Amino acid sequence: MTGDDRFGLIVGSGMSDFGGESESRVEDTPLGAPSAALREVTLAGRQIVVLPRHGDKHDIAPHKVNYRANVLALHQRDVTAIISVNTVGVIPRSPEPGELAVPDQLIDYTFGREHTFCDGGFMPLDHLEFTEPFCPSLRADLLAAARRAAIPCTDGGTYGVTQGPRLETAAEVDRLERDGVAYVGMTAMPEVALARELGLRVVCLSLIVNPAAGRGQGSIHGDIEASISESRRRAEQLLEAFFAR
Ligand code: HPA
Repeated sequence: MTGDDRFGLIVGSGMSDFGGESESRVEDTPLGAPSAALREVTLAGRQIVVLPRHGDKHDIAPHKVNYRANVLALHQRDVTAIISVNTVGVIPRSPEPGELAVPDQLIDYTFGREHTFCDGGFMPLDHLEFTEPFCPSLRADLLAAARRAAIPCTDGGTYGVTQGPRLETAAEVDRLERDGVAYVGMTAMPEVALARELGLRVVCLSLIVNPAAGRGQGSIHGDIEASISESRRRAEQLLEAFFAR
């Protein structure tokens, strides 16, 4: 890990209260307010900035998050690298719910979200090179931290970003599988692309919380309830190990 980086952590479902007892400060932006006040959190002796993507009360739907304000607020707070923590359903049989993954590719199925800074409005028109969406060295550092802490964490796989807030149909999941998607979630985009447009390093840490629609035995909400606390525990351990370096 680059010792000079100042890290921002955008946390999602199941982790909205992460660092919630820490000092928090409101950060407004020219593109509106972020989802919540930014929390200054000390993790393994390192000061990081934590932002709950869906708000303090987890009441902002994935398609209503002001992703531009969230990323810009972290940038204004001098963050140089973002770990985008999110929950996902999994399409293949392995990895399993309760485990973690660090995806290496993205497919964006979302629509109607404010998805760029570079449209000639806030910033000049530009065409971000996005062939490799994630920072390779941050990915390697997260995976190394998982190995040190003996936490099951899969290296790679494509994260397909759906619009939500509803979950997918079984046929939609079959189509995602044909597209090569391994993990399905609702929030990595436009978050990751926006971070890249501002020149930030970014990586996703995905908490696998359910088999995707049509791939499990019972209800998806039941699957999520059964695995989310284990995924969160592992994610917190992994982050401790990551920042301890
Ligand atoms: N689909 C979309 N988003 C999700 C899922 C899912 O199965 N699980 C957690 N977030």
